[in-house]
Amino acid sequence: MVLEVAELSRYTRLMDADALFADVVDKYTNHINPYLAKLMQFAGFGVEMRGEGCYVYDQDGKAYLDCLGGYGCFSLGHRHPKVVEAVKHQLDHMGLSGKAFFNKQGADLAAKIAEITPEGLEYVFFCNSGAEAVEGALKFAKKATGRTKLVSTDNSFHGKTLGALSVMGREKYRKPFEPLLPGVSFVPFGDSDAARKAITDETAAFIVEPIQGEGGIIVPPVGYLYDLRQACDKHGALLIADEVQTLLGRTGKWFGCNHDGVSPDLMTLAKALGGGIMPIGALVGTKTVWEKIYADSPLSHTSTFGGNPLACAAGLATIQVIEEEGLVERSRKMGLLMQAGLKQAADKHSDLIKEVRGRGLLIGVEFQMDEVGELVVAQMLKRGVCVAYTLNNPRILRFEPPLIITPSEIEIACLAFEESVAETAEILAMLV
Ligand SMILES: Cc1ncc(COP(=O)(O)O)c(C=O)c1O
Repeated sequence: MVLEVAELSRYTRLMDADALFADVVDKYTNHINPYLAKLMQFAGFGVEMRGEGCYVYDQDGKAYLDCLGGYGCFSLGHRHPKVVEAVKHQLDHMGLSGKAFFNKQGADLAAKIAEITPEGLEYVFFCNSGAEAVEGALKFAKKATGRTKLVSTDNSFHGKTLGALSVMGREKYRKPFEPLLPGVSFVPFGDSDAARKAITDETAAFIVEPIQGEGGIIVPPVGYLYDLRQACDKHGALLIADEVQTLLGRTGKWFGCNHDGVSPDLMTLAKALGGGIMPIGALVGTKTVWEKIYADSPLSHTSTFGGNPLACAAGLATIQVIEEEGLVERSRKMGLLMQAGLKQAADKHSDLIKEVRGRGLLIGVEFQMDEVGELVVAQMLKRGVCVAYTLNNPRILRFEPPLIITPSEIEIACLAFEESVAETAEILAMLV
């Protein structure tokens, strides 16, 4: 198939779709990551040419319903017009920050974040990614408490820079880079008693995802965050909520910790905050913590690109769209619909599927075996629905679609899932 001239012009007018695909895979193989290129090819991923609303279009012009959502970046779908407009407008005035001047977009976004986050979180440090926000949280916790010990949870995912990696609960990713930060211990996720035992008068902070995302969409028991809050308060330790993936309505409430009515001392944000247009990360914290970090050294923690006007304009527009379009409540309702649809399909294949779980539009399907997830991803892609498994657990297929997804699109996704599992079952039966 020959590409439209407008799309082709981004590459070369002479290349057809197959040649373009071959060229990109070749460059990935030779200049980015040959092993990842092989995996992506195996699953059947093409080249992303255009994104619009809930859909991504590949080099053949084929549309894919995006139920992966850029690992949580595309809560507003692709290229939401209001975010695009805000960023274009900002680009006409100032792109990156000069840093020495005050920056209105950063000021407005910080105030807005303080307004929507749980009580007591009033200050914002802007950065560019989730891992950077986690790095900041660990530094702030150490300086604010004067302590060095950190507690995290098994199976957690907090990013892959050295500090963030130190508190990641997956040995496979940590081991090759040890020694990492000293003084980190891990407890089972969702186990309040284990957390109470691990948090002591020497603990700087307990870091936790309100729902483990990359660990396999694991929802803790009700009251878990509340128990953590109490244990931290008892020992003067800080509670860090890593909301990089659970923010801005993804779980059916503004933030994951709203489900337990808990205010952490520090909260990390990224992914969806940029509206699927700009990269942005943020560390949100209390006045008490900020005083300890910045009172004696206003430049104690900084970032050149952090808080740039383009990213902040995108962040402001994103929160505005979520408010105007009622996307937090929509996520809750659509999440129930999607979980019900997936459960219906899962019931027909209980030999392959163990559980469907999640909150809002952060949904995981757990298979009985690792290999099934990979096969189902490929089958769903064939049917025009994009999904992937979670990074820490290939046995869990994640559904993390834009919060603007419609009931009929949910129906399409669930049907594709059901057909894909059925075909996978047939393939597996032939192999036995
Ligand atoms: C909970 C959580 N924290 C941190 C990160 C790291 O974010 P980034 O990839 O933007 O560095 C992720 C990424 O998936 C995440 O899910």
